[in-house]
Amino acid sequence: MTTATTFAQQNEIYPGEIWKDNNGNHIQAHGGGIIKINETYYWYGEERSKGLDTNFRYVSCYSSKDLINWKFLGDVVKMADPENLGYRWVLERPKVFYNRKTKKYVMYFHLDDRSYKLARVGIAVSDEPDGNFTYVKSFRPLGHESRDIGQFIDDDGTAYLVFEDRPFGFRIARLSDDYMNVEKEMCLVKAHMEGGAIVHYDGLYYSIGSSLTGWKPNPNKYATATSLEGPWSEFKDVAPPETNTYGSQSTMLLKIAGTKKTTIIFMADQWKPRSQWDSRYLWMPVEIGNGQLQIPQPKPWTINIKTGQWSYIQDGKLTNKPIN
Ligand code: GAL
Repeated sequence: MTTATTFAQQNEIYPGEIWKDNNGNHIQAHGGGIIKINETYYWYGEERSKGLDTNFRYVSCYSSKDLINWKFLGDVVKMADPENLGYRWVLERPKVFYNRKTKKYVMYFHLDDRSYKLARVGIAVSDEPDGNFTYVKSFRPLGHESRDIGQFIDDDGTAYLVFEDRPFGFRIARLSDDYMNVEKEMCLVKAHMEGGAIVHYDGLYYSIGSSLTGWKPNPNKYATATSLEGPWSEFKDVAPPETNTYGSQSTMLLKIAGTKKTTIIFMADQWKPRSQWDSRYLWMPVEIGNGQLQIPQPKPWTINIKTGQWSYIQDGKLTNKPIN
């Protein structure tokens, strides 16, 4: 028996447009992150739909085999204030790591009160990728302030947290074996940047960060290093600065190592502070190599995740193939 579907399969990614899930709803996975388990990608992010119960914070989860068509798996976190943080407490930028030893899915997120003074990470854990995640604890990683967080999994599988430490810059730190702690600082990058994202490409680490301008976009910048410990190069623009990163803010660099090409996707949010539910995603494959990184002009594009090859789309039309 085939299940009824409500939305046609899509072949392209439209940066900045409404991106619909399998139910035809605008994907709610803001400030998100992606992991791949076997052949499936899981996208976690802030669920900011209209009309949610304001006593709770929500993290949604979507799955996909092609990075284009996403199936809504539900809100894997529906959390009541876990630490007496009070009205308008904050859960942002959830990132999930899968621990092969413990077989647990470990979610990190920015936990705060409404004044953003707490500056901690929270951890929630699940046995399955699609939840539910149970809250475990919160702390300041290695004793430092932590607001925006990013996740980086190196080619050897080692998991790192990138976190913004307001007085100093941003830090890259290795997680403990079971991922339940932040164990070892690799580097303090003395640049005041958030939305931290890192990728390892062709022998070099590239890190991207956004300036501290709240929901307003700014010219995001990148630096390179041969080791996570640094030294990091000076930061340079990822796009013509007057575009303010095409109106977006970094959240992750996703590496697709295909049979013919390795493509790195810049994943970013186009925030709409007064209508958060309508915030958009700007995903673009980057031009990268030899220490250079640039986000090309955002236009509809498609990717073959088997070969890793991507291309722009000319006519930009949706096809009518149903999803099974
Ligand atoms: C941004 C940050 C977002 C959110 C926002 C709140 O700088 O990247 O994740 O915290 O500030 O104003």
